Amino acid sequence: AASDISFANLKVQKAAPEARKTKPANKDLVFGASFSDHMLEVPWNKQSGWAAPIISPYHRLSIDPASNVLHYGIECFEGMKAYKDKHNQIRLFRPDKNMARLKSSCERIALPSFNTNEFLNCIKELVKLDADWIPKEKGYSLYIRPTAIGTQESLGVGASNSSLLFVINSPVGPYYKTGFAPVKLLADTNNVRAWPGGTGGYKLGLNYAPTILPQLKAMEDGCQQVLWLFGPELEITEVGTMNFFMFWKNQNGETELVTPPLKDIILPGVTRDSILSLARSWGEFKVSERNFTIHDVVRGIKEKRVIELFGAGTAAIVSPIGCIKFEGQDYPIPLELGGSGKLTKRFFDTMMSIQYGELEHEWSVIV
Ligand code: COI
Repeated sequence: AASDISFANLKVQKAAPEARKTKPANKDLVFGASFSDHMLEVPWNKQSGWAAPIISPYHRLSIDPASNVLHYGIECFEGMKAYKDKHNQIRLFRPDKNMARLKSSCERIALPSFNTNEFLNCIKELVKLDADWIPKEKGYSLYIRPTAIGTQESLGVGASNSSLLFVINSPVGPYYKTGFAPVKLLADTNNVRAWPGGTGGYKLGLNYAPTILPQLKAMEDGCQQVLWLFGPELEITEVGTMNFFMFWKNQNGETELVTPPLKDIILPGVTRDSILSLARSWGEFKVSERNFTIHDVVRGIKEKRVIELFGAGTAAIVSPIGCIKFEGQDYPIPLELGGSGKLTKRFFDTMMSIQYGELEHEWSVIV
C-alpha cells in the first residue's frame, strides 16, 4: 500500500473471452442500463493508505451491512464520457475537470484525497481495455461513472477509516433519439435542491435522492423536469440534474446568455463551464454568471424577451426547455427551430464536434 494512488502499481485481470457479455445494439441502449466487461477498484484504509489499483471483470461488490455508505450516504460520483472518433481513436472530454471535482467531493465528505492524474491514468487504461464497448456512431459514447464510498463497518458517525474508489462504464446513446425534445418544467416552490452552506456544489449521491419525489410530482403535473428555485426571491438555480441557461434580451435591452453563479448551491458543471467559454470566445453577446429569479424569467417570457432556455449537463449536453409551469400557469417559449432554439442547437453541435474530434480543441483528450 502507498500514500497515494499509483498508476505504476495497477494490476489488470482481463475477462476471459467466454465471460465477455453481449453488447446491446446501439438502438437498444437505455441510459445507464448495461455495463462493460471490466471495472476499476482502488481500496484505501487509514492504516496502510491506498492499495494497488486493480482492473478486473465487472463483478458485484461484497460489503458489510454496517458499511457507513449504507447508513450515512458517504458517497460521491462523477459522470464523464469516452468517445470514438472517425479514426477509431478514443477521446475523453475535459477529464481533468471531473477528476478535480471528484477530489473536491471526496474531501467534502471526509473521504481520502488522491492524486487525480494517477487515478485518471488508471481510468484511461480501463477505457482502453473496454474500447469495444464504446459505441462508434456519433451521438453514442461510453458513460464513465467514477464513484467513491465509505466502507468502514461502523454505525458511528465519523470520518471513514476505509473506502473504495471504483469505476464502471455504461454504453449510452443520444438523449433524444429523434433530435431535440423540448421539456416542460415545473417551477417548484415547495422543495429546495440546495442551500447556502449545504452540499449542492459537490457531486454527492445524497443530493440526488431527495429530488426523486418532487420529480415524480412534477410528472403527475404534466411536466418532465423540476425547475429548482431558492429563497424568498425564488432565484433560479438548476433544472433536474442540469445547470440552467437563459438566452434573452435583458431589462437593459442587451442580448445576454445568463446562468446562476457558482457558489454552494450550484453544481460546477463541466458542460456549464464549456458553454460559458464557447460563448465568451464567440463574443457575439453578453455572457453573465449572476442571479436571476423566476419572476425575471416569467416577465421576460410575457414580454417576448426570452429567446431560449436550456439545461446543460454531461448526459444530454443541452436540453431545450419548451414551457415553464409556475403557480398553476403555463408559460410556453416559442422555439425557433421547432425542437429547440438556434443557440441551443449551436452549443449542441459545437460540443459534439469537439467531443468527437471533428473540431480540434484542447478539451478533447486522446487516450
Ligand atoms: C448530467 O449529466 O446531467 C447528470 O448529472 C446526470 C446524472 C446524474 C445521471
